[in-house]
Amino acid sequence: MITRRVLTIGAGIAASAALFGPPFVRGERTQGGGRLPIPRLIDANRQGNVVKLRVAPGSHEFYKGKPTPTFGYSASILGPVLRFRRGDHVEMSVENALDATTTVHWHGLLVPGDVDGGPQGKIEPGTTWRAVLPIEQPAATLWYHPHPHHDTARQTYMGLAGLIILDDVDHLGLPHNYGVDDLPIIIQDRTFGSDGSLDYDVDELGVIYGVRGDTLIVNGAIEPVAKVPAGWVRLRLLNGANAQNFDLRFRDRRSFQVIASDGGLLPRPVPMTRLRISPAERFEILVDFSNGKPALLETGPDEVMGIFGAVSEDHTGDFVAVMRFEPTAATAAAKHLPSRLVDSETVNPAAAVQRRQFILNNGVCGQRMRMSGQPDIPAIIGINGRTHDPNRIDVETKLGATEIWEVTSVGMAHPFHVHGALFRILSLDDKPPPDHLAGWKDVVLVEGTARLLVKFTKPATREHPFMYHCHILEHEDAGMMGQYTCT
Ligand code: C2O
Ligand code: CU
Ligand code: CU
Repeated sequence: MITRRVLTIGAGIAASAALFGPPFVRGERTQGGGRLPIPRLIDANRQGNVVKLRVAPGSHEFYKGKPTPTFGYSASILGPVLRFRRGDHVEMSVENALDATTTVHWHGLLVPGDVDGGPQGKIEPGTTWRAVLPIEQPAATLWYHPHPHHDTARQTYMGLAGLIILDDVDHLGLPHNYGVDDLPIIIQDRTFGSDGSLDYDVDELGVIYGVRGDTLIVNGAIEPVAKVPAGWVRLRLLNGANAQNFDLRFRDRRSFQVIASDGGLLPRPVPMTRLRISPAERFEILVDFSNGKPALLETGPDEVMGIFGAVSEDHTGDFVAVMRFEPTAATAAAKHLPSRLVDSETVNPAAAVQRRQFILNNGVCGQRMRMSGQPDIPAIIGINGRTHDPNRIDVETKLGATEIWEVTSVGMAHPFHVHGALFRILSLDDKPPPDHLAGWKDVVLVEGTARLLVKFTKPATREHPFMYHCHILEHEDAGMMGQYTCT
């Protein structure tokens, strides 16, 4: 568990790369090649919209014969995929069988603050939390994960995370057969001890840069293989890592279509060959396997680590395997794709009632920095020079209003996330966003300055405010988080 602390780091960065370990360099050969695990699907509507989860310690075999102690949601690792239908009210009950306080946050779900599962939604050990979730937004891929004060990173690392599929009535002819041509792909990185145990060790550098592992797992398996129909297959990608950005491509450089981002479907498919996905971001992509050839999904080095990235340059280098896909002739898959998905909504920045600035700092860049019109900002892990304080409301917003949030990263790129709201990216360093980042989102990787148009549609009180924070979980735990009300 990380306690809040003030860090003044200057010297020692250069020496740190060795300590910290280069990303993705494997020691012993892993035991990849098993079947891609497909989490159990809970279709809430089919069971009366009552869903029970049990958060508990468990044991999971990443390596044969070496059971790893883990945490899971009614599973040895991760949790079931929850399917919710627009218009429904889902009654969730979550039992905490851990020996630590937890919460369950429905990341990306637009629900009021009192059921959002942020740090205030505490579930003490041995108790059960009930929350009724009104499902009122369009189809999207969301997820759920713990959010307890100062313990989010460790609990997530131990295995707590699950996907949510929001359904709308019309599937638009897109692949929609769960586990067959519609696959959850939760990508994470972990470091294992020689006994197979998960080694979550946060030293000072882990706090400053986030904890990165040397082994990639997908749905809780190392370098797995998915058998897919020889046609269009929909992958619901989630970066479930604590800190690492993934830079995905297929080794044969095949192109794929990005059809959705955090907030749901894009107006039309966006063809791409390489896709960066930051912690907590989701993209849905369609991949064509009709040529019957196996395909290897791989990721490149994380190139947005600021000072650390420069230091570790000679260690990073090549793309490494994430997982493989093997087409089978068996199932008839979707052959044709819609060229239009949803109507594109234009947004009007002129209608914004407020403009606010947020400076994200992980304590590395200098002692103080001066922003125009702002007081000196001390070098701490925080936002606008302040670490998170659960007793302080940082921002008050109005229900139904839109605001412009200007978010600036200092030192390294930070994936910025807002609870209870969706935003459109107006610009990234004064340039319009690329098409695949132009839809509704709830996470944005901020490398310089991102201008966001945020739309507030759900209420949150002082007792249950919404959070906004960096989704590098070590940064979040160390205080790079603020809270807002919406009334
Ligand atoms: Cu993914 Cu504050 O959450
Ligand atoms: Cu969230
Ligand atoms: Cu950060």
